[in-house]
Amino acid sequence: MSGTEWPHILGRVSGPEYIHGFGAVEEQRLRDQAKTLAPVVFEDYPLPSGGRLLELGCGVGAELELLAESHPRWDLVGVDISDSHVAAAHAHVPGAVVTRADAARLPFPDDAFDAVITVWLLEHVPDPVALLAEARRVLRPGGVLICSEVDNDTFRFTPDQPLISQWWDSFCHHQMTAGGDPYVGRRLARIADLLAFVDIETRDLAVVSSRERSQERDELLAYVRDLLLSGAESMIATGHAVPGSTQALEEVFDRLTGESEVEFEYHAVRLTCRKPVSRPPVRDDGVAEAPPPVEGRPDRPDEDSGRPAQW
Ligand SMILES: C[S@@+](CC[C@H](N)C(=O)[O-])C[C@H]1O[C@@H](n2cnc3c(N)ncnc32)[C@H](O)[C@@H]1O
Repeated sequence: MSGTEWPHILGRVSGPEYIHGFGAVEEQRLRDQAKTLAPVVFEDYPLPSGGRLLELGCGVGAELELLAESHPRWDLVGVDISDSHVAAAHAHVPGAVVTRADAARLPFPDDAFDAVITVWLLEHVPDPVALLAEARRVLRPGGVLICSEVDNDTFRFTPDQPLISQWWDSFCHHQMTAGGDPYVGRRLARIADLLAFVDIETRDLAVVSSRERSQERDELLAYVRDLLLSGAESMIATGHAVPGSTQALEEVFDRLTGESEVEFEYHAVRLTCRKPVSRPPVRDDGVAEAPPPVEGRPDRPDEDSGRPAQW
């Protein structure tokens, strides 16, 4: 199918949905994705030697499982908004404490964690500033926040593959319609600054194909294909694609597997920053000044909700 035919399989836009969906296929996709991208996501990962770590939006526990192997001195805690993902995480990472919760309203006390991380979460939430304000609350002074997040504007094939490009545009449009931000990676440093984190650094996480390393290229290509297809059900349900369109997409990926001269790249961003250790300034009357309120910050978790501390 040529690129000019593609608009006919794109549909109209309607209501919001979580783009990747849930269930066994997505569970396996998340686990495959974590393994494929681990050399990029966890290269020089800036965690100290041990402590208590919270992953927000931990999904089926794919990243926690890798951290349990690579960082055995950390006590691992995860939260996710999906019951089925939390159940899967219990099975895959029995050593971690995983709870169902909205990451913007955490059932944990202040200053409870030495590290808080996110991996591929913030693109899905309506207010990443409020969510990271909540992350800051549960982080101890001096604790580290590490966010590995997408910038979907960097996704490209060379030479261009029109079918894939148009699917990707529709994929991103769907995420924005659902209230997310598929370009959130480029905002991370500004958000950290707004929330008065310190020692703010960002790093380019580059997913780039190489014709010299064909096995790795095929694995990355399979990851990209599965990522795009993970949006199909939701895109069709919301009118961003039409039934039957996935077959054409799969055919393009099948063809590209043998065309090693076609290259692709996709860049994410890793934010690393710390919660400051210093106390707030003291006014003349000896009262500590409260930090300025953060716009959009949610109320604290309901103390009367009966939700137990999870460790
Ligand atoms: C793309 S998955 C990434 C999962 C995991 N971090 C990984 O890398 O495998 C995004 C996850 O964020 C979760 N999520 C979305 N909004 C959330 C929220 N407000 N609070 C907690 N989890 C949320 C979804 O249920 C999903 O499991």
